[in-house]
Amino acid sequence: MKSSINVIILAAGLGTRMKSKRAKVLHRAGGFTLIEHVVRTSSGITPPENITVAVGHQAEQVRAVLANSGVRFVEQSEQKGTGHAVMMCGAALAPQDGLVVVLYGDCPLLSLATLKELVERQAAGEAAATLITTRLADPTGYGRLIFGERGELESIVEQKAANPRQLEIDLINSGIYCFRADLLWKHVTKIQPDNPAHEYYLTDMVEILNRAGHRVEALEVANSEELLGINTRVELAAVDKLFRERKARELMLAGVTIEKPETVTIDSGVTIGMDSVVEPFAQILGRTGIGEDCRIGACSIVANSTLADRVQVAPFTSIADSVVEADVHIGPFARLRNGNRVAKGAHIGNFVELKNTQFGAGAKANHLAYLGDAEVGDKVNIGAGAITCNFDGAQKHRTRIGKDAFIGSNSTLVAPIEIGDGSYVGAGSVITDPVPPEALALGRGRQVVKEGWAKNRARKRALDPPTS
Ligand code: UD1
Ligand code: CA
Repeated sequence: MKSSINVIILAAGLGTRMKSKRAKVLHRAGGFTLIEHVVRTSSGITPPENITVAVGHQAEQVRAVLANSGVRFVEQSEQKGTGHAVMMCGAALAPQDGLVVVLYGDCPLLSLATLKELVERQAAGEAAATLITTRLADPTGYGRLIFGERGELESIVEQKAANPRQLEIDLINSGIYCFRADLLWKHVTKIQPDNPAHEYYLTDMVEILNRAGHRVEALEVANSEELLGINTRVELAAVDKLFRERKARELMLAGVTIEKPETVTIDSGVTIGMDSVVEPFAQILGRTGIGEDCRIGACSIVANSTLADRVQVAPFTSIADSVVEADVHIGPFARLRNGNRVAKGAHIGNFVELKNTQFGAGAKANHLAYLGDAEVGDKVNIGAGAITCNFDGAQKHRTRIGKDAFIGSNSTLVAPIEIGDGSYVGAGSVITDPVPPEALALGRGRQVVKEGWAKNRARKRALDPPTS
């Protein structure tokens, strides 16, 4: 039987160096909070009930973002260091056999492949623990690995406690460990806060295990990028950039054209179908799914939306929380706010805003319109400047426009209102009463023409000039 794997993720710290009111693990990179990335990777090696997250700062918010993940939580109300956090988890987890993987919540780029390699190396060998290390051109801030004469890992010295010679060492502690569970729980309580920061350092476990006659192995990983820890917003931006590059590359290799990929922002959870094109500076965010042969225009933003095949989004368009069926054209400069469904083959043109609206198949609103809380039938034509007055100052009301209706330019549809199938609304009308099917509705002042009016006015002025 495969021995059990428990994962502990440390996420209780505030992250002072972030200079933020928000706990560090709640900051985002690649579209997810840092803690979500780490939980997602951990889920690749063990079921969620074997994952324990140590929470402290903003524990409620951290629990909330992980609410659907199925992981367990342990409260570390006072953050006395990484060793202390593991001890708190020990009280909830020990005794147990198998392996315990410890990860830090601020190291979100770690790949599943590397994590698996760590666990396999530990399971196959005789060591009490294995940790991941890498060489960094600039190791500032990280714990450094100290090796003995025979090449055995002796200890980890933190930046703050290191002497100048130790600061030269470029092999760093990534903060990713795999322990034999029995030895971790037997020895972890021996950690003392005997360092300049008066913290319980988990890194002391290396020395403690050595002293108890055990060995700790270091697994060196060549790709140091995935081990980057985030302590400041500068590092957050660097990691975010790496996530974006990873995502763009993954999509391009799967058949998506991305123009100037260094300019686009695509969240990790986005899917895009083959032969779709993403133009420069587009942002595709959250849980967005895009079909095949689509085009996302330059500087457009698509968030938490579903676009079927062959949808064309022209530049500078914003789409959020909406569903768009196949062959729809949207934009440029269009805005789909929340809760819209745009049916097959519809056209939404420039400066058109939709909110909570069902827009029928083949229907068109090509310029300057607002459709809120509306149901627009198939093949309806909405003229330029037509708007639904859906809000009476206190409540929202619905507008229903039947199929094949024609809404003239600059019409004002005062909701609640119903426009029948196949009817016409004359341009410039204010519509307050229902329009039956096949009817023509006019709601505007009749035009008056006064023949010769301007000429008469000029003559009067010549006889009696206005005093200035
Ligand atoms: C830590 C390591 C360092 C390593 C680096 C890798 C220690 C003592 N040092 O330093 O050797 O090179 O990570 O990125 O472990 N946390 C808690 N409770 C606490 C303290 C921290 O849950 O009491 C959590 C934090 O929320 C954070 C993680 O542990 O997610 C790491 O803490 P941090 O303060 O960032 O450690 P580093 O100084 O980066
Ligand atoms: Ca850190």
